[in-house]
Amino acid sequence: MKLENKISASLMCADPFNLGDIIVSLEKHKIDYLHIDIMDGKFVPNLGLGSDYIKALRRHTSLPFDYHIMVKEPDDIINLLDIRQNDLVSVHYESSFQIQRTLENIKKHNCKVMIAINPATPLCTLEEVIYYIDGINLLMVNPGFAGQNMVHNCMRKADKVGRIIRKFNRTDIIFEVDGNISCENARKLKKYGANLFVAGTSSLFSSKNLTENIFKFRSSLQE
Ligand code: DX5
Ligand code: ZN
Repeated sequence: MKLENKISASLMCADPFNLGDIIVSLEKHKIDYLHIDIMDGKFVPNLGLGSDYIKALRRHTSLPFDYHIMVKEPDDIINLLDIRQNDLVSVHYESSFQIQRTLENIKKHNCKVMIAINPATPLCTLEEVIYYIDGINLLMVNPGFAGQNMVHNCMRKADKVGRIIRKFNRTDIIFEVDGNISCENARKLKKYGANLFVAGTSSLFSSKNLTENIFKFRSSLQE
């Protein structure tokens, strides 16, 4: 069964001064998820969004969260988060000494568990876990910062991920793409089977006109 295309709005790219209005607007336009980047300054060279801040957000929105965890040994962090049934949680293959165990720990929260793959992560790792996961988060940039250009091999890598999904008969899987997802890149990635698109400074938050940007991004996914 093929999944419908969905949008995950990247909160690290939203203007904190206008966050309340932005969330109201994302809800009004039925954006599917809030993409929450969690960074420890070790696994990636940047810091961001803290557990208290994230819990505070929960009080102001009913949108499900799409946690992208970029920390060393993520198991300790998982318990600090308020993870709910409709949430997605992705962890990087390289971030845990025992990724299989980490994926199973996350699964105990009854959420959807996903493996995050960096531009240089070998895809054989995906083949090893493909029957344990609900999704893949394929990074099109080296994670940690908004506003980067796509790493050149990543389009080809997305094509390969699509082939692996079909080879293993997992077309029910969530195939998320994250980093430099402009309208044009989203259109191309959709052809490779991507079905969840992280919308950051390359699309929804490229200007102050959020409503227009949502409309344009959605149209590009329908072409
Ligand atoms: C990359 C982050 C993304 C990013 C997406 O490390 O995980 O969420 O902010 O936005 P842009 O479009 O700025 O790459
Ligand atoms: Zn992310």
